[in-house]
Amino acid sequence: MSTFSGKVALVTGSGQGIGRATAERFATEGAKVCVLDRDADRVEETVKALASGEGAVLGISGDISRRQEVRRAVERCVDRFGGLDVLVANAGISGVQPLLDIDDASWQRILDVNLTGTFLCTQEVARVMARSGGGAIVVTASTNAFWVEANMAAYNASKGGVVAFVRTAALDLARFGIRVNAVEPGVVRTPLAAFVTEDPVAAADYLKRIPLDHFADPADVADAILFLASKEARYITGQTLILDGGLTLGLPEGWNRGSGARDQDSEIRNQKANRS
Ligand SMILES: NC(=O)c1ccc[n+]([C@@H]2O[C@H](COP(=O)([O-])OP(=O)(O)OC[C@H]3O[C@@H](n4cnc5c(N)ncnc54)[C@H](O)[C@@H]3O)[C@@H](O)[C@H]2O)c1
Repeated sequence: MSTFSGKVALVTGSGQGIGRATAERFATEGAKVCVLDRDADRVEETVKALASGEGAVLGISGDISRRQEVRRAVERCVDRFGGLDVLVANAGISGVQPLLDIDDASWQRILDVNLTGTFLCTQEVARVMARSGGGAIVVTASTNAFWVEANMAAYNASKGGVVAFVRTAALDLARFGIRVNAVEPGVVRTPLAAFVTEDPVAAADYLKRIPLDHFADPADVADAILFLASKEARYITGQTLILDGGLTLGLPEGWNRGSGARDQDSEIRNQKANRS
């Protein structure tokens, strides 16, 4: 994989979780990194962690769902580093509520951050990239865009919208040399998914559905994001890269125990025993 030496990357939601791991990976690959998060303390922590490396880093606190804050953040990146080559539109929030209980404010906030925030960041950064000959945008969507989980209507709808937006943005921005792609992680060990990954009962239950038998680490997603932003992905645009350990492939091995599959398994075992 190529390095990002001399490139400038803006990563939203990089105060913790997937965004932070991604900012760290870009810094390791020599990029100048703009850390944007609405939580000022987390921005500071990420900047400190990155500052020990070689690349330059700029921390900005701001809310991606507000046009003026996104514009100001993009202007600060450009003022400091002279341009923008990569946007990782990653910041997002979740919410678990049965459909009949969702109130207008919770619905709107999730849509504002996950969908409108992705639009605002993409548009503000793409305007800069269009003037400078192109760039790469990677959005953190989710398997929830197509493999929905109950009681998460707003989140699922926001991520479905994000994927449709990514495909459209790829069409609209191709003529400016801007590629737009998305990653679709399954369950990743971050504070956002801790209610699953850190609850022994929920985690054990969920893991039964994941063929690779473990949750993703933030670094697993960061690597996929770096690939989509890299020159190795130069002919890829408008695509989604699923990284879910096999979660959404279908019913996992073992689901049909008790039917013909059991007989088949014992037949295979017998054949092996006879051969040895
Ligand atoms: N963790 C998972 O299992 C998982 C799975 C699929 C997709 N995702 C997506 O990955 C992205 C990152 O999630 P994570 O798991 O790292 O979450 P996280 O909660 O650990 O981190 C998200 C970061 O984004 C910041 N943020 C939230 N709203 C913001 C806003 N309006 N403006 C600026 N910053 C804001 C938070 O302060 C936080 O630091 C999200 O879009 C999420 O939907 C996560």
